[in-house]
Amino acid sequence: MLVTSKELTVPARAQGYAVGAFNAVNMESAQAIFRAAEETRSPFIIQITQTTLAYTDPEELFALIAALGKKATVPFAIHLDHGRSFEVCMRFLRLGVTSLMIDGSLQEDGKSPRTYEENVDITRRVVAAAQAMGVTVEGEIGRLGQITSEEERADAAEHLTRPEEAVQFLKDVGVDMLALAIGTTHGLFAGRPHIAHDRLQQIAAKIPIPLVMHGGTGVPDEDVRKAVSLGIAKINIDTQIRVAFYDAAIEQVHRVEKEFDETDAAGGVRKYDVRKILAPTREAMSRAVIDRMTVFGSAGKA
Ligand code: G3H
Ligand code: ZN
Repeated sequence: MLVTSKELTVPARAQGYAVGAFNAVNMESAQAIFRAAEETRSPFIIQITQTTLAYTDPEELFALIAALGKKATVPFAIHLDHGRSFEVCMRFLRLGVTSLMIDGSLQEDGKSPRTYEENVDITRRVVAAAQAMGVTVEGEIGRLGQITSEEERADAAEHLTRPEEAVQFLKDVGVDMLALAIGTTHGLFAGRPHIAHDRLQQIAAKIPIPLVMHGGTGVPDEDVRKAVSLGIAKINIDTQIRVAFYDAAIEQVHRVEKEFDETDAAGGVRKYDVRKILAPTREAMSRAVIDRMTVFGSAGKA
């Protein structure tokens, strides 16, 4: 059931739900995402982010995801998240992703902003290559970052996506999905998040393609549902899965430590099994993904 992200997100926008895009970094996180989708009968996007290259060869992780995909009974796409260079995007295209993001809003260091012209130039080059292969392309205009309620009310946050800029960017590059800066941030929010729904509404009224929310972790459910009703059709989730992994791993390590103390006290022999630590983390990550698929409204849409 491997499809492109466009085949998932265009109907999602039309029918008023969002498809979750979940980051995988290893076997357990990839399995957790596939299991959650099967359990909820939900279409989904599994994504590998460019920074994963420092941890493992994408070829290895991709092969694992492809093997899981052969058994999947729900539609899914394999996506490169936050591709920052033409070369990396081409490497993942050759791997066989059915969707990719060229994040032209930032330089390759992932921190310093690119100019509008630089963003257009690199995004256009990736679009030309990827769309020629029938692969969906996500671009980004605006820079992610949290906003205060005052900024939201005053509509004053410089880094947010401007409607006229989004319209011009889409004309200039022709992406299939557009990531917006509407007050979300990567990682956990500092304090209460404020989503610029008015700004999103203005953009959605002018842009008919699927819109993407990055930094989905920590966005209150009522804000998620409102953003989806306004046109968000893809929501990226990474940190919430990491938090689920950490919480379960820490709990399991404490449990094993206690068992070891009892074994030592009884003069017994300790038993070591990596799976004993990892299995509960897989279950916890899967529950976190199920929770999001339910709130996004994709559960039961497969
Ligand atoms: O591209 C990935 C996301 O934007 C993830 O954001 O870590 O805040 O969930 P998050
Ligand atoms: Zn992101």
